[in-house]
Amino acid sequence: MERSTSNIGIIGAGWPGEQHALALQQLDHAELYACADLDDARRAAFASEFKPRKSFSDYRELLQDRHVDVAIICLPNYLHFPASLAAIEAGKHVLCEKPPTLNAAEMKVLREEAAKRKLVYSFSRQFRFTPAMRAAKKAIEEGRLGKIYHAKATFVRSRGVPVGVGNWFTEKKRSGGGALIDIGIHALDAAWFLMGAPRPVSISAKVFQNFPQLGRGAAFDVEDAAFAFIRFDNDAIVQLETSWAGNLTDDVPPRKYFGQELINTVVYGTKASVRLKPLTLFEDRQGELAVVPLEAREDEANGFELQLRNFLGAIAEKAEPINNADQAVALMEMIDGIYASSELGREVPIT
Ligand SMILES: NC(=O)c1ccc[n+]([C@@H]2O[C@H](COP(=O)([O-])OP(=O)(O)OC[C@H]3O[C@@H](n4cnc5c(N)ncnc54)[C@H](O)[C@@H]3O)[C@@H](O)[C@H]2O)c1
Repeated sequence: MERSTSNIGIIGAGWPGEQHALALQQLDHAELYACADLDDARRAAFASEFKPRKSFSDYRELLQDRHVDVAIICLPNYLHFPASLAAIEAGKHVLCEKPPTLNAAEMKVLREEAAKRKLVYSFSRQFRFTPAMRAAKKAIEEGRLGKIYHAKATFVRSRGVPVGVGNWFTEKKRSGGGALIDIGIHALDAAWFLMGAPRPVSISAKVFQNFPQLGRGAAFDVEDAAFAFIRFDNDAIVQLETSWAGNLTDDVPPRKYFGQELINTVVYGTKASVRLKPLTLFEDRQGELAVVPLEAREDEANGFELQLRNFLGAIAEKAEPINNADQAVALMEMIDGIYASSELGREVPIT
């Protein structure tokens, strides 16, 4: 069957908007039809580089255009829910940047509204599609780890507090939270996805705000570090460690913009464990521990492109995307649970 071309609207022209536009350039059957950004200079630079047919200021103008089939939302966190909902109500399929929403209650509304209209909803988590993640996932699906019982999820920076246009990242009402909802969500999702997305049942966590002076003068009422212990219904657990700021030790490598930075996932199973960086399998061979190199296919497209292919493929085939709405709800339930546990000072159930 001949596949028709989707008209894509990219909303928010910062770094993630550019990555989705670059990915789109590699695809057939999809065209960058429109972009929107309130910031005139950003919008002009984006339009001049990626040449959409139309360019709008506010996202609501773009969503009124009946020729737009798909909205890719790269706005500040507090606009993810209203923009995704407005897009769905206007009949558009949605791919929204992380975090999907500010909390699970909002995400449940999006799931229901998209399902009602038979629209595809997906959230952006391009790290699921990196070569190392795909190789690790394949090893797990082949049964090489045995029963998975534990994963360690890490995304830490020593000096990496973001601000964003209008200093929204460090202000809770616009961001929903700090290091956890910004970068911890990547680490948590990577571990959880590799584990097969088991159902979370309870969480014990603590978040901290120790370095507000690193917020470059912006309002700062969010955490800059979070630590969590999550139990799942299959008896497995995840330990999560994330920070924008911390006095990290020198085994964490330096990066250009964020001070030191370490992003890693290790998943432990009864037959083997797998570590993403450097990608390695640690395998039990009759009691001996063997270090087994794992091949990652570096020659394929990058994570943003593979993610977009999967999302647009799901629209064409009326199928579920890999990053689906049910998983977005569960992910936000875990984020909610971490904040609730920290505030209450005890383990909380996820119902
Ligand atoms: N997937 C990733 O790896 C990744 C990386 C960075 C950021 N993000 C996510 O992408 C989102 C955007 O992050 P960012 O760093 O680009 O933030 P940013 O503040 O740099 O950019 C947000 C853009 O939205 C525009 N905007 C705000 N309100 C608008 C409106 N009503 N209509 C149209 N445009 C509007 C702003 O002018 C700005 O250009 C965030 O949710 C962030 O968490 C994801």
